[in-house]
Amino acid sequence: MAGQIPQRFIDDLLARVDVVEVVGERVKLKKAGRNYSGLCPFHQEKTPSFTVSADKQFYHCFGCGAHGNALRFLMEYDKLRFPEAVEQLAGRLGLEVPREGADDPRAQARERKRKEGVNLLELSASFFRERLKMPEAQGARAYLEGRGLAPEVIETFGIGYAPDGWEGLKRHLSERGIAEAVQVEYGLLVHREESGRTYDRFRDRVMFPIRDIKGRTIGFGGRVLGDAKPKYLNSPETPVFHKGRELYGLYEARQADHRLERVVIVEGYMDVVALAQFGIRNAVATLGTSTSEEHLSRLFRLVGEVVFCFDGDRAGRQAAARALETVLPLMIDGRQARFLFLPEGEDPDTLVRREGPEAFQDRITCASPLSEFLFDQAAAGRDLARIEDRERYASQVLAALAKLPEGVLKSLMLTELSRRTGVEPSSFAALLARAEPAAQEATTGPGASAPDAGGMPETAPPLGESAAPPGRTGGSLSLVARALQLLVHEPELVARLPEEDDWCPEEEPDGRLCREVIRLLRAGRYRSPQVLLAHFHGSPEGERLAALARRELLIPRAARGAELDGLVGHFRRHRRRRSPQEEIEALLAREKAGERLSREEKQRLMALITELHR
Ligand code: UTP
Ligand code: MN
Repeated sequence: MAGQIPQRFIDDLLARVDVVEVVGERVKLKKAGRNYSGLCPFHQEKTPSFTVSADKQFYHCFGCGAHGNALRFLMEYDKLRFPEAVEQLAGRLGLEVPREGADDPRAQARERKRKEGVNLLELSASFFRERLKMPEAQGARAYLEGRGLAPEVIETFGIGYAPDGWEGLKRHLSERGIAEAVQVEYGLLVHREESGRTYDRFRDRVMFPIRDIKGRTIGFGGRVLGDAKPKYLNSPETPVFHKGRELYGLYEARQADHRLERVVIVEGYMDVVALAQFGIRNAVATLGTSTSEEHLSRLFRLVGEVVFCFDGDRAGRQAAARALETVLPLMIDGRQARFLFLPEGEDPDTLVRREGPEAFQDRITCASPLSEFLFDQAAAGRDLARIEDRERYASQVLAALAKLPEGVLKSLMLTELSRRTGVEPSSFAALLARAEPAAQEATTGPGASAPDAGGMPETAPPLGESAAPPGRTGGSLSLVARALQLLVHEPELVARLPEEDDWCPEEEPDGRLCREVIRLLRAGRYRSPQVLLAHFHGSPEGERLAALARRELLIPRAARGAELDGLVGHFRRHRRRRSPQEEIEALLAREKAGERLSREEKQRLMALITELHR
């Protein structure tokens, strides 16, 4: 690792850069008095509440509370780690970032290699791009056209052509003073041991440059124009290229949308490019490997949601099962993973061309959430009316849940498992504890430092009634309560709810209250949690809402809307169809309790009664 950056240097750097300039390069700002203002890049808004102060060298958003100096801005906006943000600012001023104790020669050598490699790969990428324009590339151009790729998307992705012949690139690079050994090291030349000969690795192929998150070319994928094998040839592992880590298209997706919230993981280069051409510009592909934990943890640093896309065949199902295993440990609250299965025989490239981007987008929107996929997968081939099958079903789900980090998702899933199997949640807690002895030890063992004052109890409390210390876990709210809690904390979320409130199960505890809150929020007078609570002050509902308001949400702001959408979707899918009789009774009960039914509800009641008596 490189050494620490001296604080003095950071202070000096911040004194010399102008936050207005740094922000202004990325956000359109207008001078407003002594400050500048603009649309906040960290949340969606139509009127500017984002300000940048030249005097204080700070930015602040009155809408979402985002706030900080130039470094913080770069970290948030460009999603950089702290040292990367420092590098970037220093780079603007032409400064080298000093490192304390940075005389580690190995780190220096590594850095030198990285620069050397990027330079050489960049040269190669432009060589391939130029070659695509030459007469010799006519076949390649025809191929790309035949696959329906427009010039714009070819340019965005920097697609090129490696000429047919043994030394085109080698000559080009050698003329520019790059040693053959280096060309071999970065995978551009192949070295034959027996003959000692070297020659171009990529010949007569359409070339896809693979870029890192900053847009630097780190490797290539090359496709044959015909049916020769291998269809795709990729750069080998090099000092800068690691297949298990990089994702094709990620840089381009971030270029297309800096506020990228969701990424779709597909299989191939062509899928990414074809989707982009049709305006779906958030697809990325692994490079001929399955999705690794490292891929996913990198993605989740950038976005809150990943959608895995699979073929509908058996291989696709297997790949999905592997992806599920990989993603489970990463599912801290606020992250979402979903699973999309394509019709057999199609890939995203063929499908988006056949169905069009709207239909494909709809498929993405409707992809199964992780929870649903997990339950479905465990249920496959089992008859849940049989006790033995139910037991195996529960075991399979529990084994998966044991891999989930502690949090709301996990407790929601346990509640759901209990609902589906009829087993008490408390029994699951015990089973889970047994399924993950290591994890239990880590948090409750004698040596572990207790995170909260009282420490954790010896044995985990049953999930159903755990009295979680405030702010530590989400405990076990029911799903309705969770929806209500989201609304109490963030009343604006009401705007994304469907117009009809019928998704909200009235017969469940908190269901009525939830609907009531929605109605009040819609009426528009209750913009903040405080005012909302004041409305119910002194009533049992008020106490309930206050309790929900006191519990922390524990997920980032950006993820809350998506969670609410997820809950609504869940209720809709699992809505128990009530018989007319039950519905009538529910309505009559409310009327008896002194509540005034709305006009629609009265009409509904009449219709139901008529129907029943026919
Ligand atoms: P596919 O064989 O599914 O190809 O490989 P594709 O993406 O549909 O390609 P087209 O549409 O025929 O052009 C999916 C991915 O697997 C890797 C590549 O990353 C490819 O995009 N792959 C495939 C290889 O690395 N080598 C191969 O020989 C084949
Ligand atoms: Mn394909």
